[in-house]
Amino acid sequence: MNKNILVTGGAGFIGSHAIRYLVNQYPDYKIINLDKLTYAGNLENLTDIEGYSNYEFVKGDIYDAPFLNELFDNYAFDGIIHLAAESHVDRSITDPNEFIKTNVVGTVNLLNVAKSHWQDDYKGKLFYHVSTDEVYGSLGEEGYFTEETPYDPKSPYSASKASSDHMVRAYYNTYGLPVIVSNCSNNYGPNQFPEKLIPLFINNIKNNRELPVYGKGENIRDWLYVEDHAKAIDLIYHHGRLGETYNIGGDNEWKNIDLIRKLCEIMDRKLDRKPGTSAKLIKFVKDRAGHDMRYAIDCSKLKNELGWKQEVSFEEGLEKTVDWYLDNQEWLNHVLTGEYEEYYRKQYLER
Ligand code: NAD
Ligand code: DAU
Repeated sequence: MNKNILVTGGAGFIGSHAIRYLVNQYPDYKIINLDKLTYAGNLENLTDIEGYSNYEFVKGDIYDAPFLNELFDNYAFDGIIHLAAESHVDRSITDPNEFIKTNVVGTVNLLNVAKSHWQDDYKGKLFYHVSTDEVYGSLGEEGYFTEETPYDPKSPYSASKASSDHMVRAYYNTYGLPVIVSNCSNNYGPNQFPEKLIPLFINNIKNNRELPVYGKGENIRDWLYVEDHAKAIDLIYHHGRLGETYNIGGDNEWKNIDLIRKLCEIMDRKLDRKPGTSAKLIKFVKDRAGHDMRYAIDCSKLKNELGWKQEVSFEEGLEKTVDWYLDNQEWLNHVLTGEYEEYYRKQYLER
């Protein structure tokens, strides 16, 4: 084995795709997946690779500093790809504290343990922090987020991610810890927990449930297929420059309502419904508090410096995503638990 890489949050949506890519790409590495298995963590995302000799799962909480210390005593990690986080904006509005514990304190715990175990020799080591474009705030009709855009987070989620980004850069500046940060736009694809827009609406359409569109549905997001993000993570981990930030995006802006109508059309076709049937489920509801209007990423640095590009078009990615959810009812049944229904009731039925 050449490299031991710790991936945090690997049982989640993006983490599981990143791990699958890495274990297939690097048979000589050992990829250790550390995950607390919160409601969003699901080992069923990784059943196809769970027997691989270059993959191992460890259950644990990044908020637990003594546990992390013991983990680093037991494994000589060369690198960390840090994805573990509370990731849903709506939940951060209801309960910000978990976001501070995991996203801020958990990240600082990881930085401390990496620093204390690596400080004799930082050579060949890397702490790669996976973050979000939401730290930059909200755009008007014009312009793009670049790596130089000042931070202006608006939700408890984005504020917690911004804090963690600042701490990662502070450890680079203050202690020389080798770090890289990337900030990515909205991901979509298989295995995403059905609280986020696309999988939530696919599941609701299938079950003839209302489609709760926040506000007027005019907010804009820049969508990227999750496997393209996984490839960017690999490229940045191996070829990114220390201390640098890389923006990752889809070059694919959609107004929510246009995207939802497109999804309804695809679902009508896949479910053999009369055109227009699913769109009847659309219901405009009270807006999300502090709802960011527009995100759009300028990812030219990543393209020009590291040669990354998006490979999956939105048409193709949406088809693949819808097919995956329709073909994986068992996966859905296992996550659509009583806890999920309780969340759904509070978030949508009692607002
Ligand atoms: P997710 O919610 O699907 O997965 C998060 C994972 O982290 C889960 O497996 C969960 O069990 C684990 N986790 C949570 N708290 C933990 C703790 N205290 N200790 C250990 N593990 C813990 O999230 P995601 O959408 O896959 O996002 C992954 C990362 O990418 C996050 O850092 C997020 O901020 C960032 N990101 C997400 C998107 C997106 O569109 N989903 C876009 C850009 C960046
Ligand atoms: O931009 C990157 C971020 O994208 C990530 O950092 C977050 O982890 C990820 O959750 C995502 O945040 P968003 O808030 O943009 O994603 P979400 O899927 O929650 O919402 C997408 C858009 O759809 C947003 O404008 C709110 C709207 N929406 C969402 C839900 C869940 C609705 O109109 N109705 C809904 O029920």
